[in-house]
Parts: sequence; structure tokens; C-alpha cells
Amino acid sequence: MMPSGKTAEGPRRKNLDGLFKPRSVAMVGASADPHKIGHQILRNIVEGGFAGEVYPVNACAEAVLGLKTFPSVAAIPHPVDFAVISIPATAVAACMEECGQKGVQAVAVITSGFAEAGNIEEEHKLKAIADRYGMALVGPNILGVVYSPSRLNATFGPRDMASGGTAFVSQSGALAIGLMGWAVMEKMGMSALVSIGNKADVDERDLIEYFNHDEHVKVTLVYMEGLKNGRDFMQTRISKPVVMLKVGRTQRGARAAASHTGSLAGSDQVFDAAFRQLGMLRADTFREAFNWARALALPPMPGRKVLIITNGGGIGVRATDECEKAGLHLLDDPEWLEETFRPVMPSYGSTKNPIDLTGGAAADKYSQAFKSAVISDKFDALLVLYCETVITDPLAIAQGVSREYEAAGRRKPVVAAMVGGERSRQAIHFLNQQGVPAFTSVADAASSLNALAQWHEISSREKDDPECSQAPREAVRIVEQARKEGRSALLEHEARQVLELCGVPVPPAAFARDLDEAKLKAAALYPLAMKIASPQIIHKSDAGGVAVNIRDESELAEKYSAMMKTVSERVPDAQIEGVNLVQMAEGIECAAGLSSDPQFGPVVMFGLGGVLVEALKDVAFRIVPFGRVEAERLIGDIKARNILDGFRGARADRPSLVQILCAIQKLAGLVKEVDINPIRSSEKGSFAVDARIIL
Ligand code: ACO
Repeated sequence: MMPSGKTAEGPRRKNLDGLFKPRSVAMVGASADPHKIGHQILRNIVEGGFAGEVYPVNACAEAVLGLKTFPSVAAIPHPVDFAVISIPATAVAACMEECGQKGVQAVAVITSGFAEAGNIEEEHKLKAIADRYGMALVGPNILGVVYSPSRLNATFGPRDMASGGTAFVSQSGALAIGLMGWAVMEKMGMSALVSIGNKADVDERDLIEYFNHDEHVKVTLVYMEGLKNGRDFMQTRISKPVVMLKVGRTQRGARAAASHTGSLAGSDQVFDAAFRQLGMLRADTFREAFNWARALALPPMPGRKVLIITNGGGIGVRATDECEKAGLHLLDDPEWLEETFRPVMPSYGSTKNPIDLTGGAAADKYSQAFKSAVISDKFDALLVLYCETVITDPLAIAQGVSREYEAAGRRKPVVAAMVGGERSRQAIHFLNQQGVPAFTSVADAASSLNALAQWHEISSREKDDPECSQAPREAVRIVEQARKEGRSALLEHEARQVLELCGVPVPPAAFARDLDEAKLKAAALYPLAMKIASPQIIHKSDAGGVAVNIRDESELAEKYSAMMKTVSERVPDAQIEGVNLVQMAEGIECAAGLSSDPQFGPVVMFGLGGVLVEALKDVAFRIVPFGRVEAERLIGDIKARNILDGFRGARADRPSLVQILCAIQKLAGLVKEVDINPIRSSEKGSFAVDARIIL
């Protein structure tokens, strides 16, 4: 249980016990009219079996559903822990004020017509009242709240939800209703369901952190459309699996989500980065999210080795493919497999993993094979497959598997995929009710095991230690001087100097005002690149201001004159300060950048450099601040990571790339954008060859 009031996790976090474990509930807007939402919520609370006191509040009616009503919350002569409010928007603030005065701990405001409809002022008023009294406010614009351990269903959704280990948090109320119905149909047990709507107060972070301490919750599944405060979300601590279903992957989708919730549409790739950084698993579809949630309630999966038991070769091959695709490997131990499984199959069965018991295998054979397998430590998860035949009974097979699983103390993850008709569906439902995730498709089973393995990897991964140091004073001085001069970008040599001061390795370089100075300074730098220095020229190549691979003085002189001529023709008004001479660096071209996301603030980008960064868009992000461990993971997130590790050629130097990704974070808040492209990385190290810094 979380301590009440302010917690170590931040002063704005409120105690949610009043929401989930109330001793009494007031239902404001409890109408006798069954067509009204307030009536249906009251009915759900009462018929759902809530054991505490229930007080309907209605200004007109005497009694509703056989319960005496009260004209207002203030008129209830007993303490109230939780109030559900379903009255017109204009009356909500006054009602919340009464709740605050009465000492109500939490309110759920069902009513729509606040920020989502442009009525932002009124929503701020609700939040201010909640804060003044230390009340937790869920909503407004919500379906309500379910908490199975308290037998509390304060929603106008379906009534007959089964209890289980998944807590569901949804920004959309309508989807939450759909999901409740689906959960009932699919035999998915829920410990909690919270529709958070406009998130005026209680949000995803509050709930995830509350469920960290709730023994009834094994997995939290979040449906998200957008965030109000990405930086606060990045502080979320998770100690149990969180499956994130974030919609708005496409630009149009993101715009639709933004207009639905009133939240800003941040880049989807940045959301992806945020979830990875926090250790949340991102699902693509509801089906995937549900499947994963089921599997994540299983015992831990410490490795990726899988054993498959099947009655059909074809489905076994399909499952093998899906496992390999999901990064799971089949146990390969021919002697042990032969010794263990030969006794439970006919001579024409196969003891090569997948273990093929063949089409005639009935419940007894499945049970025997399962029993021998489940006690072994040779693999990390067991996948049971079944193809429906007329001579076997899928339900009996499911019952046998479940019985043996219980008898063995549920000691390792087990999932099943059963392919067939109505009889197989029944067996799947049975297994799901018994806590053995069962699916109609082998791909779903493999993907769920992958999620479970991923969670183990996340929960045992090395902790990152963000470095929060600031840019050195000299770097700040250079930036401020450029600002004073009214410039919007640093000159190249300034950018290089600022990066170097922050700890980004740069190749040896010099700045020269004219050809004579260039000749003098170039002597120590050949082979070199020469680049025009002008405040008016940001895209130097387009202006003819870049010459590479200059090997000696005569080439330097020749290219210098040619460059001055072309630049003055292409950008006649440019004020030429001189040229930058930069020693040519070898290695794989990478790119790194720092920019600002509307929801998460400063973010760092990494990808392959040169033209590839634009053509392939193979880039990944992290939210600032992060440390060396997370920088390593960022590099590992790009699809072309094999190229960095020397795929058919030279390899990049990861430690110095990590150093660059950590160092550029020092410029967050000081400048608008940093773009280092290319970085040249080889066994000799990584060097920022070209960089732009926008103020
Ligand atoms: N104190 C006590 N009782 C009151 C008060 C008050 N201040 N104000 C109203 N009441 C009573 C009313 O008299 C009425 O009872 P009655 O039927 O006996 O007369 C009852 O409370 C309800 O009030 P109504 O004025 O009839 O309001 P109604 O039920 O029609 O609508 C509601 C209220 C449901 C909150 C509506 O304003 C609303 O916001 N609807 C949308 C809700 C919604 O969709 N939320 C998002 C869910 S998620 C999703 O998208 C599915």
C-alpha cells in the first residue's frame, strides 16, 4: 500500500486507496431511470457485490434500486471514501467542493464536456478543488472504475467481469467498454480497470506506480492516445510488466489522437524510445496486448529455450518458424529428448523437438509427455500444440495439461495453441480460465513467450545511470556571444569547439581567414577537407563550399580559388569569414543529433550517417537524460547495427559513439538543435566531422 499524501515519488502523487479500497461509495446522479448512466453505474455497484456502504445521491428521488437516496453528498450522515459523479458538467465543481469538505478521498467524474470539448477552464477548476482537498480525481469524461478485489464495478460497462491478474488503464472510455466485453468473452480475468479520460489529475504514472505495490496486479495494460507531460511520465517506476498500446503510429493517426484527447502529437518514434527506456513492452494491436498480458502473468522465463509438444508435424513446423522469428530457440538435446519422450509415443512418433506424439495422441499421452517435460530444467518454456481430430478430445487434453501443471507447482511458463473448431475453442477457454494462456494461433503463442522472455531481460538488465552534467562555461560563452550577435546558428569552427569542450571527439582542424593562412595551417592536416565559413551559408555543399581529400599545397590553392569563385556566384551576398580545414577521418558514417520533442523535451537521435540517414530513416531516439548503458542500447536499436559491428568490413568504435551520445546531452536547454553528420567511426575512434548547432 502506498503511503498517503505526498510520497517520495513526487509531491503531486495522491493516495489511491480511496479509489480502489473504499469502505463506502456515494453515487451522485443515481437516477431511477434505467436509461440514465447514473442508474446503470449504481446497479453495477450493487449487483457487482460491493461489500461496503453505498449511498445514492439524487436531488429528486426518494429511493433508487431499493436504496434510500440523499439530496447531496453533504447530507449523507456517514463518512464517504469514494464518490462517483454522473451529473451535468455545470454541477460537477460544486459537487466536488462538497466532496472535499466531507473528506471524500477520491472522485471519479463520468461527465463529459470539459477539456475535450474546449471547456478547459472548468476542468482546471476541478483539478484545483481536488488538489485543495488532497482528493484523487479520475477523469473527467470516463467510463468509471473496476477493482475486482473489492468487488467494485463503478462503471456503466458490462457487469460480469472475471477477476484475474491484469489491470487495464484506458484513456478512451468507449474502448474500455469494448475491452470489458472482450475480456468477458475471452475469459480474461482483470484485477482493475480504470478509464482515465481527460487525465485532469490521476494519470498512467499514478496507476502504474500504485499497481507496483498491489499484490492483486501482475501486469498493467495501458491504452494511450497521448500524454500531457512526457517528462513526468519518464519518471514512472515500474516493477511489474507494463504492456503499452499507444495508438497514433501514423501521422494522420497521431493527429486524430491529438484532437481526441487534446494532447500534443509527439513523434511516434520518440514514444517508442520512451517506452523502451522505461522498460515497457509496446504492443501493436489489442489482440497482441491481451495475449502478452496473459503470458506475462506466468512464472518468469529466464532464457529463450523452448520445448514443443505436438500431435501434428505441420503445426510443429509452423511453431518452429514462429519461435525462431520471435527470437526463441528450440531445445536441442537428442539424447535426453529420446530418453524422456520415446516411452510416451508410438514408434513412428518423433522425439526431435518438436516432440510429435502423432495424431492419435489422446489426453493420457499428452499428460504423460507434459509431466515428464515440465519438471525439467533443460529449457525455459513449454509450448503445447494440438490439432483437432475426431478421435481425440481437446477438452480432456486441456484438463490433463492443467492438472499436471498444477501438480508440478506451475514451475515454468506454459502456453498452448489449439487449432480446430468449437471443441478446441472450449478447450482454449478452459485453459485460459486455469491461467494457462491458450491461443488459436501458433504465432500468438510464440509472440507471447517472446514478451515474457523480454520482460525477464528488461527486469534483469543493467541499470542506467544518467549523466546530468552541463556544458562547460567556455561553451556557454561561445553560444551566448553568437546569440548576442543575432545569429541563429554557430559557425562551423565554433560548433566544433563547443562540441569538443563538451567531450565530443573532433578531428584535428584549423580555421584560416585567407589562402596564405590556410597554406600555413594545412601543413599538419593533409589529407584534409576544406569548408567555407559564412554565417549566411548553412548548407555548404549546395553553395559549392566543400572540397574533400585535398592532399597537398598546390591542390589546396587550386580548390581554394575555385571555391571562392563558385560560392560568390551562388550566394553573392554571403559574408565569407574564411575556410575551415579539417583532417579527413576514416570510418563508417554515423549521425547523431539533439532536438526537442513537443511532449518529451530534449531527445537524442542516432543513426547511420551521410545520405543513408535520410534515405533509410533508420534512426532511433532516447529521451534526455540517459547514461552510457542506455546510449549502448540506443546504438543497438538501429536496424543497420550489424554494419557497425563490422559486417563485411571495418567496424565502428562503440565506446566513442557512446561518449558522443552522452556528451551532446550537455547542450540540452542551451541550444535548439545539434546535428552531427557525419560522425566517422573506425577502430581509431569516432570523430564528429561536420556539425551544425542551431541556437
Ligand atoms: N445533485 C444530486 N442529483 C443531481 C444533481 C446534483 N447536483 N444534478 C442532477 N442530479 C440528478 C438528476 O435529477 C438526475 O436524476 P433523475 O433522473 O432522478 O432526475 C440524475 O442526477 C442525472 O442527472 P441528469 O441531469 O438527468 O443527467 P444525465 O444522466 O442525463 O446526464 C451525464 C449526466 C451522464 C453525466 C452527462 O452529462 C454526460 O456527461 N454524458 C456523457 C458521459 C460519457 O460519455 N462519459 C465518457 C464515458 S466514456 C465513453 O466515451 C463511453
